[in-house]
Amino acid sequence: MPRKGLEPPHLAAPDPKSGVSAISPPGHATIFSLECFFVKKYTIFMKQQDLLYPYTFDERRPLLEDQVFFIPKNYPNHSAWEGSLLPNNRAIHVEFCSGNGEWIIQKATEEPDVFWVAVERKFDRVRKIWVKAKQKGLTNILIVCGEAETFAEFYLKPQTVCHIFINFPDPWPKLRHAKNRLMQKTFAELVVRALKTGGLFTFVTDDTPYRHQTEKLIKEETDLISTQDVLEDYGSSYFHRLWLEKGKEIHFLRFRKQ
Ligand SMILES: C[S@@+](CC[C@H](N)C(=O)[O-])C[C@H]1O[C@@H](n2cnc3c(N)ncnc32)[C@H](O)[C@@H]1O
Repeated sequence: MPRKGLEPPHLAAPDPKSGVSAISPPGHATIFSLECFFVKKYTIFMKQQDLLYPYTFDERRPLLEDQVFFIPKNYPNHSAWEGSLLPNNRAIHVEFCSGNGEWIIQKATEEPDVFWVAVERKFDRVRKIWVKAKQKGLTNILIVCGEAETFAEFYLKPQTVCHIFINFPDPWPKLRHAKNRLMQKTFAELVVRALKTGGLFTFVTDDTPYRHQTEKLIKEETDLISTQDVLEDYGSSYFHRLWLEKGKEIHFLRFRKQ
């Protein structure tokens, strides 16, 4: 099913060169500024339900639409993607497992010169990130609706990312479920591949066994080195606050690519 357009029907996108909308007669700056006013008003009142899932299972394909990059599951042809997702003239920071996006939206607001990428597999959470970005008018963020492993393997080019963050990934605390944790050898290698030389990888968890597993994995399977960076003003998220309130210790790990 094709989705509804997100723009109000009476507003057309302005031409990037002239700054004039297709529906504004040339030279009518007042009409254009009125349009800007309404676009601003409109985004403030946007709801998460305004983001619709863009296709049916049969129509599935990688699709970039309105700051969201949809990566379908059970799709055989990721390697055929030739589109461009990320700017090549700005620092790129990626957060995997963004949840409702509180942390990354705060960062994207505070650091507008950085281009931020939020990767989240659940569409209902992607919507929450998207509506926050829209309401704040953020243009320096891409939201990826898909699996972290697939995005890292097929859509992140080598040596392009300055900083990769994973904040409170699902811990899978039972030993027999530990194989489901995101931090496995293959994913760690993809993280290293995506980072620029000198780039950073920050991993935050409340789960002590997951912390130790990640430290061991990075030490034994990658060339990343542990850094002693102070993580001041790190920012906060739903799960960060939740675990602090429950009195859990939060583990911050940071590594650098040599
Ligand atoms: C415990 S929540 C943490 C959310 C957020 N980082 C926070 O601190 O509030 C983990 C999130 O990771 C997402 N997630 C888990 N595995 C993922 C994967 N392989 N790819 C993308 N997202 C994943 C889950 O859907 C969930 O939203």
